[in-house]
Amino acid sequence: MKKFDLAGRHALVTGGAQGLGAGMAAALAEAGAAVMIADVQDAKGRDTAGELARTGAKTGFTHLDVTSESDWEDAVAATIAKLGGFDILINNAGIEVTALVIDIEPESLRKMLDVNILGTCLGMKHAFRAMRPEGAAGKGGAVVNISSVAATIAFPSIAAYSGTKSAVDRMTRVAAAEAGRLGYGVRVNCLYPGLVATEMGLKLASDIVAIGLAPDVPAAVGNVIGQTPLGRLGNVEDMADAAVFLCTDAARFITGIGLPVDGGMGS
Ligand SMILES: NC(=O)c1ccc[n+]([C@@H]2O[C@H](COP(=O)([O-])OP(=O)(O)OC[C@H]3O[C@@H](n4cnc5c(N)ncnc54)[C@H](O)[C@@H]3O)[C@@H](O)[C@H]2O)c1
Repeated sequence: MKKFDLAGRHALVTGGAQGLGAGMAAALAEAGAAVMIADVQDAKGRDTAGELARTGAKTGFTHLDVTSESDWEDAVAATIAKLGGFDILINNAGIEVTALVIDIEPESLRKMLDVNILGTCLGMKHAFRAMRPEGAAGKGGAVVNISSVAATIAFPSIAAYSGTKSAVDRMTRVAAAEAGRLGYGVRVNCLYPGLVATEMGLKLASDIVAIGLAPDVPAAVGNVIGQTPLGRLGNVEDMADAAVFLCTDAARFITGIGLPVDGGMGS
């Protein structure tokens, strides 16, 4: 038996070429949704979409830099044309640059503001425009923004990143209020993933060592596990299942929340 049922739904996953985005795309497809993978990494994104297609999923790839308004217009149009609709957006693309507050570089912070805040905001804008009753897709839907446990705890070396993820959290709540009150038929929620050993998660662990906050990577990881009541790191499937849940009808009365998927680290 399938864990979730999203048959007949049409999803766009940003940053879907690898890591959590690729896992979420696979989980959406497993639940029966058609899935468009969107990323700045074209070759990798096409490969990931190709792998999904081999499982029998209806899928495709579209180039999308989430900081570009015209890319968003093209990606939404491509999703509707290729998949036949657009009712799920996973706003997952994000970047993290580790630095102690005393070392924050304006350029790194501006990049994170651009991808993590502007990118997420443009995603909601174009999803709302397409999904609301008078939009090109017109059937309402669900948006899941990927925030972070970093928005809920104070973890040294990621102040700037944590600020961008707190912004994602706050934007989620305001967007959900607008979408509900203005009759768009779109629910908007966010996830707070705990640390997962993706490219980003592994780099954070080695950055913490380079900064001098842990003697080696196992100690850096052990420190996170030590702060986690369930006693392990998260994995891609943990995050993917939670994202898919928020898109299903089982979550039909849930909007404007942040769901921790962190083994209890942020509680
Ligand atoms: N891995 C973790 O421990 C962790 C924890 C909490 C939250 N998150 C969040 O989860 C999301 C996914 O993280 P991940 O671990 O899979 O990272 P990752 O670095 O492995 O993958 C990120 C993906 O986003 C894409 N991307 C980057 N900039 C983009 C842009 N401008 N436009 C479109 N795509 C872009 C990359 O090409 C890549 O495919 C991010 O928002 C991240 O902040 C990750």
